[in-house]
Amino acid sequence: MDLKEIEEYLKNTLTEKRYMHSVGTMKKARELAKIYGEDEEKAAFAGLVHDMAKELTKEQMEEYIKKYNVVVDDVEKMKPSLLHAKLRSYYGKRKI
Ligand SMILES: [Fe+2]
Repeated sequence: MDLKEIEEYLKNTLTEKRYMHSVGTMKKARELAKIYGEDEEKAAFAGLVHDMAKELTKEQMEEYIKKYNVVVDDVEKMKPSLLHAKLRSYYGKRKI
């Protein structure tokens, strides 16, 4: 999937608020990459997908944790919403 296709996927799977936040983060990441001479496409990609697992249900999170043997630390056990960052890579590989 290219960036536009990922953007379309997120538009159809995230809440509007989360989608708009993701697009805004993509744009800001691209701006910062340009200022600091980094890869703008990689930065845009990272910004766009950074929250793609944030709206997974508890059941979906448990599925990915089990399927990919994700190590859940004590802090994440107390605050499962923190797992979205770790699960993003597993979820992203399956979806994009
Ligand atoms: Fe975010």
